[in-house]
Amino acid sequence: MKAIVYNHFGPADVLQLEEVEKPVPKDDEVLIRVHAAAVDYGDILARKGLPLSEFWMPLPLWLPSRMFFGFTKPRVKILGAELAGEVETVGKGVKRFKPGDQVFAYLGQSMGGYAEYRCVPENGMVALKPVNITCEEAAVVPYGAIMALTMFRKVNLQPGQKVLINGASGGIGSAAVQLAKFFGAEVSGVCGAPRLEYVKFLGADRVIDYTIEDFTRNGETYDVIFDILGKSSFSRCVNSLKQNGIYLLASFKMKPLFQMLWTKLAGDKKVICALASENPEDLDFIRELIEAGKFKSIIDRCFPLEQAAEAHRYAESGARRGKVVITLE
Ligand SMILES: NC(=O)c1ccc[n+]([C@@H]2O[C@H](COP(=O)([O-])OP(=O)(O)OC[C@H]3O[C@@H](n4cnc5c(N)ncnc54)[C@H](OP(=O)(O)O)[C@@H]3O)[C@@H](O)[C@H]2O)c1
Repeated sequence: MKAIVYNHFGPADVLQLEEVEKPVPKDDEVLIRVHAAAVDYGDILARKGLPLSEFWMPLPLWLPSRMFFGFTKPRVKILGAELAGEVETVGKGVKRFKPGDQVFAYLGQSMGGYAEYRCVPENGMVALKPVNITCEEAAVVPYGAIMALTMFRKVNLQPGQKVLINGASGGIGSAAVQLAKFFGAEVSGVCGAPRLEYVKFLGADRVIDYTIEDFTRNGETYDVIFDILGKSSFSRCVNSLKQNGIYLLASFKMKPLFQMLWTKLAGDKKVICALASENPEDLDFIRELIEAGKFKSIIDRCFPLEQAAEAHRYAESGARRGKVVITLE
């Protein structure tokens, strides 16, 4: 089968089209013929070799992650953490799916979406694709939606609460804006100037351009500040949190992890970091939201598989408004 493989860490040019062995599903796996895969933050970071400066995560987390992705050259050679496609065959123990089912899936750090075929355990993060959107649209949903849903469930987000999303235009942020609105929250979204309209379109009540306004200094207070990349800090945000407010993080950096521990023991304002859910029912929940017209998938551009390097360059260029997709015939 055709796949985009990278044998060295580096710029987008390391992504090369190659012929690799087609996977064979185990008894509990489905073989998906991939129609589309997303270009995500994690793909770009993994391609560059997970620079410690960007992650600055605790050594006990960084080391296994580096061992998994490789120290001097990539161990996971095919990127792509989310995809949509059609089930071609199923292992003999599979009950949830049958050949011909259209599905979407989140593969996490095992990746492998930039290929014609990918095997996924039937009890992994895979679900039937929403019937009212294309595979391209479905492929860009699971990662951000699952991550945002996990985080809002952690804080038990309630109608009427005020939420600020720092990084509202990205993969997680664009889902977080929509889910926060769905849960009845009042949403402020922070992003760069080119994407302010996009974040408004997603449903944010207010948008803030981080290049001209520091949200920690405008006098507003929030029940939840969801900082996707951890570009602010708990100490900077503490006065922008209401009483019992929560500073929520998708990233796992050293300092917030310690802050999570001590704010659990003391003080009314908390820091919370969490990993994405691994419950496929959450993906079913997202499918239902999409089919009910309560969650949108917005694509900026699609690139055919052989132009994966171009897709990465575009995703990194800062021009995008919405997700970048790699398509397969
Ligand atoms: N916990 C988990 O299980 C898990 C799993 C996967 C990933 N993650 C974490 O998720 C994060 C990646 O999120 P993502 O995929 O949504 O990233 P992304 O798609 O690259 O989006 C990044 C967002 O941050 C915004 N941003 C950039 N610079 C900023 C600044 N100085 N101030 C405020 N906002 C800024 C961007 O705005 P503009 O583009 O408009 O400038 C964009 O909205 C990483 O920290 C990663 O570690 C966590």
